[in-house]
Amino acid sequence: MQNLRWKIKQVLKEGEAAVGKSVVVKGWVRTKRGSKNVNFIALNDGSTVRNLQIVAAPEQINEDILRRINTGACLAVTGTLAASQGQGQVVELPAERIEILGEADSEEYPLQPKKHSLEFLREIAHLRPRTATFGAVFRLSHAMTFAIHHFFHERGFFNLHSPIITGSDAEGAGEMFRVTTLDPKNPPLNEKGEVDYGQDFFGKETNLTVSGQLEAELGALALSDVYTFGPTFRAENSNTSRHLAEFWMVEPEMAFYDLDDNMTLAQEFVQYLVRFALNNYADDLAFLNQRQLDEEKNKKKEERSDMSLLERLQFVVDNDFERITYTKAIEILRNSKPNKKKKFQFLINEWGVDLQSEHERFLVEKHFKKPVILYNYPKQIKAFYMRQNDDDKTVAAMDVLFPGIGEIIGGSQREERLGKLQQRMAEMNIPEKEMWWYLETRKFGTAPHSGFGIGFERLIMFITGMQNIRDVIPFPRTPQNAEF
Ligand code: 4AD
Ligand code: MG
Repeated sequence: MQNLRWKIKQVLKEGEAAVGKSVVVKGWVRTKRGSKNVNFIALNDGSTVRNLQIVAAPEQINEDILRRINTGACLAVTGTLAASQGQGQVVELPAERIEILGEADSEEYPLQPKKHSLEFLREIAHLRPRTATFGAVFRLSHAMTFAIHHFFHERGFFNLHSPIITGSDAEGAGEMFRVTTLDPKNPPLNEKGEVDYGQDFFGKETNLTVSGQLEAELGALALSDVYTFGPTFRAENSNTSRHLAEFWMVEPEMAFYDLDDNMTLAQEFVQYLVRFALNNYADDLAFLNQRQLDEEKNKKKEERSDMSLLERLQFVVDNDFERITYTKAIEILRNSKPNKKKKFQFLINEWGVDLQSEHERFLVEKHFKKPVILYNYPKQIKAFYMRQNDDDKTVAAMDVLFPGIGEIIGGSQREERLGKLQQRMAEMNIPEKEMWWYLETRKFGTAPHSGFGIGFERLIMFITGMQNIRDVIPFPRTPQNAEF
């Protein structure tokens, strides 16, 4: 029986060629409309954004079954594919037999064939994959995972799994989730009255990782080109549309790359991914493009974006990213209209401040009108591992900024000189003792190397045009929220 089952994507792809073939399709009812004479059921099995029209006539399908078919029900439909009389599809499936695999009570089923708000859908994240929007988002999310591995594989990179439980704070920001098996009500104490983590599971303090970079560096200094792709965790209390407490990060790390090489790889990587989506997921992108155009109609004119989703994607593929130094960016921002008119929430007065997303978006969306790579940041606002420049003020850092998103990539050339690294760690109070293994790579056969991290969900936001990061991951983890 199973071998008669066709995915709806396959039925619609074959189109006219499939007419006359006997098939079984299985999926969930999106809508049912019709009369006593004939019912039209839009069936979707998630293989494509498009539905297959099922034609159910009372002569074939018993009335009781027809009555029990509601939005949300799961059906197995047997029939012979026919050319469609109606508009919008080439083929349809006149049902010879319908088996209801799972009913959905129309009084109770929360997803109805009307437009639900994204906020409401977040509350029913267990059912939202059944909507056209989330189906498209999750298919594209898969596409990007596949394309990421493909890109690196083609270029001779090796995928390494970095640990999720770690004893070090890679970013030195201290925003970590503790991992422990100690009893919180009655932890063992040492002589000083502090919790004795020596008696914890790993015999030391451990946390969920914020980044796989440090381990990727160890890999790069042996295999040349590696990348990690795994979950990362940050206990920062940022309740924004761009932050998750649990997100996935892709972190390539390359021996013998300087900062310029790093920037070039970052651009080629993102362009490859966007091109892959455009070439292989045109249906889903067309749907999301239209969805965004519809949303924009409800916005004030000045809030509308000047490009559609598809135009924006094409634009990124066709244009080099603008590369400018942090110093130059500060100059532009200081003299910008919103700074002079005090429209920025954080005004830019002096060199050395960290940029906020309002500044990043101004540079990308208003000033350059294209993706921007900022590089050579002040050392005091960046992590300890970044390579110190000769000016003694800046480090070889780079952030890639995207329209609508702000920072999508953060990376740097790494400090490969043992002495310089030790000096910077001392300045930043990072204990050498815990990082002995990291330092040994600088002691034995050190080499110039670079890498970056791209937030997977931020990438998916850009690819799909979704504006809230909670809507591009199946089950978002944010402050005060770990449902599902
Ligand atoms: O800029 P970040 O903090 O850089 C690192 O972690 C480096 N170790 C990367 C490297 O050089 N290998 O984070 C990298 C990217 C950001 O640009 C952003 O896209 C994403 O990770 N990111 C987040 N995405 C969602 N929610 C959060 N809370 C994020 N924090 C960072
Ligand atoms: Mg960053």
